[in-house]
Amino acid sequence: MDTSICSIDGMEGILRYRGIEVEQLEQMPYDAVSYLLIYGKIPAPQELEAYSRKLREERYINREILNVLKVCNYGTEALDSLRTAVCCSAHMDEEKDDSSMEANMNKSIRLVAKFPTLVAAVHRYKTGKFLIAPDEKLSHGANFLYMLRGTVPSAIEAEAIEKDFILSAEHELNPSTFSLRITASTMADIYSAVITGLCTLKGPLHGGARKGVMDMLDEVASHENAEQYVLDKFSRKEKVMGFGHRVYKTCDPRAKLFKDIAKKLADDHGDTQWYDLAERLEQVMYREFMQNKGRPIYPNVDFYSAVVYKYLEIPPELATSVFAAGRVSGWVSHYFEQYSHNRVIRPRANYI
Ligand code: CMC
Repeated sequence: MDTSICSIDGMEGILRYRGIEVEQLEQMPYDAVSYLLIYGKIPAPQELEAYSRKLREERYINREILNVLKVCNYGTEALDSLRTAVCCSAHMDEEKDDSSMEANMNKSIRLVAKFPTLVAAVHRYKTGKFLIAPDEKLSHGANFLYMLRGTVPSAIEAEAIEKDFILSAEHELNPSTFSLRITASTMADIYSAVITGLCTLKGPLHGGARKGVMDMLDEVASHENAEQYVLDKFSRKEKVMGFGHRVYKTCDPRAKLFKDIAKKLADDHGDTQWYDLAERLEQVMYREFMQNKGRPIYPNVDFYSAVVYKYLEIPPELATSVFAAGRVSGWVSHYFEQYSHNRVIRPRANYI
């Protein structure tokens, strides 16, 4: 399948969105990267201003959706509640019956803008807290942390969550994007496609791995226990979450960037517990994999992002949903690309 959205060099560990390396993208605001993914070019200052304004105006959630969320949020996983909320957003979209390009663009902006608000609402309801309205003065990421935690984040925290959204935004034909493209290829609507992506993201071998890493950090608790944890995993032939990748044969470039963000947060918080523990797990995994399989294994995107979430006080149950809030810009870009020169995706099976 051809794409002009993303390219990955798995041997060299290079990831580009629209031809630009993630190391450069990470220096931009999330809104600019979202625009780049969807419109295919870096926005001019006035274009970015207009796009950002629309995103800020569209952050609000309609009361009916919040009422549904309130009811369906008990005893469900956060991602399932988010999925229900996105389904309701589809029903209530004022342009739901309009499949013109203009209406689809408006829907994509609504999706990108509202995902963080929905994720924050899921969490606030689940923890019995009152909802916090979006603050249009704050950036996309900072506003999310504000709605989630109830206090305006520090500059370093705001930068960390913006970078998280950027590094989570796109990754070529990963499972959720591929499944979304299949739905798009049937000419189904944009909400159906995004909901397909959301469902596929859930699994522990894909987006769910971030929660898996957070759970592991809690279980291991201290860097002194890391070695035994990995040895036990190897002896039981179990996978360690946050390591390995189908495409990268070297370190995932996002993992390196997330590691730097985690270090900055650890130093800023004056608490290196999670960072030290993660670094020790990385060292032992590398050594054990070399000894057992004769080749290295590296952390993937979910490993150090989980450490970042620990410092940002994002609970493990919410990790996949926060991932989705960043990924939605990539998903809608793939929807448009599929839709614009479509051929139904219908692979054949090999009958045995
Ligand atoms: N821990 C221990 N062993 C591993 C791991 C791991 N994390 N990953 C791969 N291996 C071993 C695996 O047991 C197998 O060994 P053997 O050849 O002896 O059977 C070998 O490496 C190849 O494994 P595989 O599952 O066939 O590798 P793959 O390239 O098909 O799978 C993967 C890639 C990401 C599914 C896998 O590495 C994995 O399950 N990792 C843990 C889950 C995880 O972190 N997922 C996030 C993926 S990246 C972001 C995303 O897609 O959302």
